[in-house]
Amino acid sequence: MVLFLATWTFAFLCITVHSEVHTKFQTPGPYHVAYPHDYVFVLDEPDACSAENPFLLLIVPVAPKNRVARDAIRRTWGNESLVLGKTVRLFFLLGLPGGEGSEWLQADVARERAEHHDLLQGDFLDSYHNLTIKTMMMLEWVASRCPNASYAMKIDSDMFLNVRNLVKMLLDPKTPKRNYITGLVARNRPALRDKNSKWYMPVDVYPDSTYPPYLLGMGYVFSTDLPKKLVDVSKQIKPLYIEDVQLGICLKKLGVKPTEPPSHTLFQVYMPVPYNRCHYASVITTILDGPARLLQCWGDLHKTNPPC
Ligand SMILES: *[C@@H]1O[C@H](CO)[C@@H](O)[C@H](O)[C@H]1NC(C)=O
Ligand SMILES: *[C@@H]1O[C@H](CO)[C@@H](O)[C@H](O)[C@H]1NC(C)=O
Ligand SMILES: *[C@@H]1O[C@H](CO)[C@@H](O)[C@H](O)[C@H]1NC(C)=O
Repeated sequence: MVLFLATWTFAFLCITVHSEVHTKFQTPGPYHVAYPHDYVFVLDEPDACSAENPFLLLIVPVAPKNRVARDAIRRTWGNESLVLGKTVRLFFLLGLPGGEGSEWLQADVARERAEHHDLLQGDFLDSYHNLTIKTMMMLEWVASRCPNASYAMKIDSDMFLNVRNLVKMLLDPKTPKRNYITGLVARNRPALRDKNSKWYMPVDVYPDSTYPPYLLGMGYVFSTDLPKKLVDVSKQIKPLYIEDVQLGICLKKLGVKPTEPPSHTLFQVYMPVPYNRCHYASVITTILDGPARLLQCWGDLHKTNPPC
């Protein structure tokens, strides 16, 4: 009887402890991010970097269903593998598809991976409020799989990228080789307290009124010594669902200041700028209004006559 009771008490205790751990991890509400956590890559390219030793990695976070954007990138700026004598390697970064039809979609993704070998996929639900998990997994991946690359860029799937201008900037002797991160630097941005805002930030998640300087998330470039340091320091902060702000907070904690690009016109991330050959030939990034536009302007941009 005593033994019986003891077993029951033990089982009861286990359940209590377990559910406590559970609620602690699954912090309620969409403004809390489940990171750090031992996510794994269900799709990986573990040997890509040791085989090719790239100078520059281009990593594109994209939703599993957005095959159209991936194909447009593969046919345009993602297909530039040797630029100014430097090897460039493209990867897309996905989470898991959710909702109805997700098993079919995952099967498509696996086929696409077998065809292109450029997909990385983490085992978290791919969603807007999980973008910080995606960015942190990107950093974990670069730190563990590609530590010998010189630079990496995170670039959104709706961007135009002039890879040649990017490599040219990175090869400039004035460009730092360590503790370097550049893009469009946002300064003194307020934490938005309006619950209707897309970027609403509850005071209990982030109490300060402004964010530290950060790189706008549509496109930023960094030296590959940073990923490991950022992953390590992220364990000391409360994660924010706004991935670029999260990185800004990690950078501040590390004492690394974002570097301004050599010219303020190189990174454009606001309104889509109407296509203009001379302009597109001079920037590093600009935002586009769809994959069709990318295919269209790419052909024109690569005509042999001078752009300006
Ligand atoms: C990185 O370079 C070092 C030294 O050259 C080498 O031992 C190591 O295997 C390389 N790592 C990868 C992932 O390529
Ligand atoms: C990538 O470029 C090569 C030539 O440089 C071309 O043969 C190939 O078809 C291109 N790939 C895509 C997907 O457009
Ligand atoms: C983020 O991913 C985790 C792990 O898959 C999942 O439990 C959670 O619901 C996701 N959060 C959101 C807001 O999508």
